[in-house]
Amino acid sequence: MKRTEIAELYSKKAELGGKTVTVCGWVRTIRDSKALGFIELNDGSCFKGVQIVFESDKIPNFTEVAKLNVGSAVVVTGELLLTPEAKQPFEIHAAQVEVEGQSTPDYPLQKKRHSLEYLRTIAHLRPRTNTFSAAFRIRSAAAYAIHKFFNENDFVYVHTPLITGSDCEGAGEMFSVTTLDADNPPRTESGAVDYSQDFFQKHTSLTVSGQLEAECMAMAFGKVYTFGPTFRAEKSYTQRHAAEFWMIEPEIAFADLQDNMKLAEAMIKFVIRYVMETCPDDIAFFNQFVDKGLVDRLQNVIDSDFARVTYTEAIEILKKNNDQFEYKVDWGTDLQTEHEKYLTEKVYGKPVFVTDYPKEIKAFYMRMNDDGKTVAAVDLLVPGIGEIIGGSQREERMDVLLQRMKDFHLEEENYWWYLDLRRYGGTKHAGYGLGFERLVMYLTGIANIRDVLPFPRTTGTAEF
Ligand code: 4AD
Repeated sequence: MKRTEIAELYSKKAELGGKTVTVCGWVRTIRDSKALGFIELNDGSCFKGVQIVFESDKIPNFTEVAKLNVGSAVVVTGELLLTPEAKQPFEIHAAQVEVEGQSTPDYPLQKKRHSLEYLRTIAHLRPRTNTFSAAFRIRSAAAYAIHKFFNENDFVYVHTPLITGSDCEGAGEMFSVTTLDADNPPRTESGAVDYSQDFFQKHTSLTVSGQLEAECMAMAFGKVYTFGPTFRAEKSYTQRHAAEFWMIEPEIAFADLQDNMKLAEAMIKFVIRYVMETCPDDIAFFNQFVDKGLVDRLQNVIDSDFARVTYTEAIEILKKNNDQFEYKVDWGTDLQTEHEKYLTEKVYGKPVFVTDYPKEIKAFYMRMNDDGKTVAAVDLLVPGIGEIIGGSQREERMDVLLQRMKDFHLEEENYWWYLDLRRYGGTKHAGYGLGFERLVMYLTGIANIRDVLPFPRTTGTAEF
């Protein structure tokens, strides 16, 4: 059996008109009168479905097919007939309908609008809906675009470990990995858990970022990137935090913060352009049903230069509007989502890089600026979401780095290999992390991170 995907039927319809084709998919709707029936079939290859016409004098199992429930899996062979006058440009007149799997009448996805909250409770079935099939196709296209971008720019794709003995962000929001008995772990004389008896003979966790290892690789290859899952045990019940999310982390040697921002801007524009070109129907769907300004907004990002502002300047702007915020800002406070959105939506109306944050609110590895108060950090804020990228120029000076580690109470012995990078041919270097889910939210207009992850993990949710 040569199977043709529905997307291909649309792209090659002129050539396939009058020919026999075989399609495989799931019944979206079905109706019949005595001798004639219609199925709308979807296979997930594109946004659209195809209409199947089945008749009692053309297929032997007409009664069986007429009794199919929504959700059933079928393989249909028949002639593709062009119907230029009709709403759909073609239909398939079935010569054979093989029922692979009947669905029961209580199929949870009926032909009505289901709420996103309800669909989250059936994450195993929701990819079959229009919204989620479009979202996950865009997710796939965006992932490909990222690899394509870095590949075309001569970056080496490196795989960094998921199990790690160090805390990159120093925020202590890590999930422990251990083979010890959680209820009754062995203990040392002092009463602490004795990790020497653990599989790794030390305490390990799931990684919050591949950055430190990516830095090692950048010191060998010059330009590298990672693209993998990361984990954070932060109890944030927000629409943009997940416990398991994917991060893209480029790292470039002989580069500073300016180079970092240039790379980030080029990457974001490349991915948006690629997704708009390759998924026009999916983007049009989101523009119509989810976020009416989506296409204009994405086009605007491609066409404009991202704004740049220092943290200190941003605080001055925000302070003038403190009465509008739940959390009041002052120099030294971290920016909350409401501040980020204000800056990018109300002040700039486009993506904005905020640079040079106070050293107290950023990670230990960020390069100290000459003022001794701020570090060479950068966040990219975008309208609708807020922060989607966090990055920095890294501290390459051993003495400054050691002092920063001390300030953060980090044990030198856990980072000896990281310090070696400064010992053996250290150079200025920079990198950033892009939260992949936040990018997909940006590309689709979907407001909740739970709806761009196929199987989201957030506090209290690991059902599937
Ligand atoms: O700003 P963050 O914490 O930066 C780092 O982890 C650096 N080590 C990256 C680097 O320089 N290589 O996180 C980077 C991005 C954020 O801007 C955000 O988009 C995303 O990761 N992110 C999350 N996305 C979903 N859920 C969470 N809990 C997230 N935490 C961070």
